Amino acid sequence: MGDTHDRYVPLLSVRSLTKCFGDLTVLDGVSLSVKAGESLVVLGPSGAGKSVLLRCIVSLLRPDAGTVHFRGDRIDSLPERQLAPVRRDIGFLFQLGGLFDSLSVFENIAFPLREHERFNDMECRSRVERVLELVGLIDLIEAMPDQLSGGQRRRVALARAIIAEPSMMLYDEPTAGLDPVRSDAVARIIRRLRTNLGLTSIIVTHDIALARKTADRILFLNDGRVHVSGDRDTVLHTTDAMVQQFLEGSSEATPLEQT
Ligand SMILES: Nc1ncnc2c1ncn2[C@@H]1O[C@H](COP(=O)(O)OP(=O)(O)OP(=O)(O)O)[C@@H](O)[C@H]1O
Ligand SMILES: [Mg+2]
Repeated sequence: MGDTHDRYVPLLSVRSLTKCFGDLTVLDGVSLSVKAGESLVVLGPSGAGKSVLLRCIVSLLRPDAGTVHFRGDRIDSLPERQLAPVRRDIGFLFQLGGLFDSLSVFENIAFPLREHERFNDMECRSRVERVLELVGLIDLIEAMPDQLSGGQRRRVALARAIIAEPSMMLYDEPTAGLDPVRSDAVARIIRRLRTNLGLTSIIVTHDIALARKTADRILFLNDGRVHVSGDRDTVLHTTDAMVQQFLEGSSEATPLEQT
């Protein structure tokens, strides 16, 4: 992944991003950067703008102001037809990432490869097998989605998101609705993808255990603004009342207005 110099140039750089829906300002001047190989966890209360932030990064939503640079190139103003290669290089695991119920696990995962005509059937098969090994589900390659548990479906969706070998992954609540054991399995996979593939990632989550296991840095978003951001341990041990309250899962007292 490039020479040493690349490590010091952010792979992704977001500057003063603002997004409004009518009168509602959902992102209000958010800036962040992620270096190659790094994992940034984004925490924050429900409605803080975390999912909107991820969508703005890959132009599924267009920001009203601010810029997004990927590999040094400005991508927020690209016309739709020029976004395809960017979206191939930035994988996205959606908050409610669904599978196609009428397609098998194999067909679901192979789906994004159909756009790339350069892959023949054998290459396709071996790539699908490789990502299924990575998420620990190779035995389910011929299964249909309705035969899978919630955790298995999430891992299949993850396999599909990385099949085109992105250099960056955006995860929106990858452990939502999973029990602690399945959540831990997802955390391990996220770490393994980083070790084996050098994937850079942004992980949006409410799951503090996941944040501890995967973050290099943590950014706490509140009301569309960066409230706190820093190294994982600095943020986890902050004295900031709002972050502490969030980490402790307390709904008492102050400042979390949103539920
Ligand atoms: N397409 C849209 N049109 C109008 N409002 C929207 C749209 N998408 C999001 N919003 C609003 O933007 C705000 C932030 O939403 P967002 O989904 O980013 O929150 P979030 O931080 O991801 O919350 P959660 O933790 O519950 O997933 C919310 O008030 C939401 O209602
Ligand atoms: Mg969300």
